[in-house]
Amino acid sequence: MRLDAHWMPFTSNKAFIANPRMLKSASGMYWTTKENQRVLDMTAGLWCTNLGHGRERVAAAIYASARKLDYAPSFGFGHDGAFELAGRLAEHAPGDLNHIFFTNSGSEAVDTALKMALAYHASRGQKGRKIFIGRERGYHGVNFGGTATGGIASNTRVFGRWGDVHHLADVLDIHNNAFSRGLPAHGLEKADELEHLIEFHGAENVAAMIAEPIQGAGGVIIPPAGYLDRLREICTRHGVLLIFDEVVCAFGRTCSFSAAQEFDVPPDLMITAKGLTSGTIPMGAVFCSEAIYQSVVGDSPVGIEFSHGYTYSAHPTACAAAIACLDIY
Ligand SMILES: Cc1ncc(COP(=O)(O)O)c(C=O)c1O
Repeated sequence: MRLDAHWMPFTSNKAFIANPRMLKSASGMYWTTKENQRVLDMTAGLWCTNLGHGRERVAAAIYASARKLDYAPSFGFGHDGAFELAGRLAEHAPGDLNHIFFTNSGSEAVDTALKMALAYHASRGQKGRKIFIGRERGYHGVNFGGTATGGIASNTRVFGRWGDVHHLADVLDIHNNAFSRGLPAHGLEKADELEHLIEFHGAENVAAMIAEPIQGAGGVIIPPAGYLDRLREICTRHGVLLIFDEVVCAFGRTCSFSAAQEFDVPPDLMITAKGLTSGTIPMGAVFCSEAIYQSVVGDSPVGIEFSHGYTYSAHPTACAAAIACLDIY
């Protein structure tokens, strides 16, 4: 089999071709390789197969959906699955994040949330608010918005950072916080840099702060006690939106439905993907607050309120998979 036809993502392609690691099936917690080796899936795939592999109920829902309605556009059309799923997600949402926008990946959900932030400010006559603030070691996927707001240098070196983006220092402090039980005690003051950045650039120019409540790809970094509350408080004071990227954290990974609920810090926008369909079908979802939805959608004249969306937004098969996953969760 020709192995260089597939340009593999985030992979040393040459090393793979020299020593291919091919998987052929999966069940429960295990994969089976082409050589019939059983491999423990310790990381739940890329932190996405939260329910384990080979769930009959999910597979049956996907099959039934593909037979009944293989595709439905979601620009100007709807289908029951999309509304049922959004309604069920809204019931679990933190705070009043009751409006759900579907994408096909975490990266798309990140870009969608960033655009929602811009649309929200524009709808209130604050078009100047265009700056985004991320964090060093943050990971927000690989589309241009996520690449810019992310904070892992190797992901940006070649591509640069599009847009006006600034970063807070990360909260990794092994010297002081090693062997912490629960949330680390040191590092709360690192949140205060947000206040400084907002004042430096002018709150009237800052759109949103984006953060993973627990940083994943940057090293599984737990926030210091009070840190997320402090970010929330500073954002609120300056009219800056707080976006939580919960692509990894949501769907039970922190015990609660979302880390926002676990830490009791409600964001204005919450980005999810991965566990939404337990990795079975690509799907992401942005949870949006009542205030943002009302400002962008409710208060707009009749017409397309938000010029954004994907051919496969709310794909029927993905919705069916997500509903089946929710049933199991
Ligand atoms: C926090 C976070 N945001 C966004 C993404 C991007 O998701 P995707 O790979 O589905 O585009 C990831 C992926 O690992 C992630 O961990």
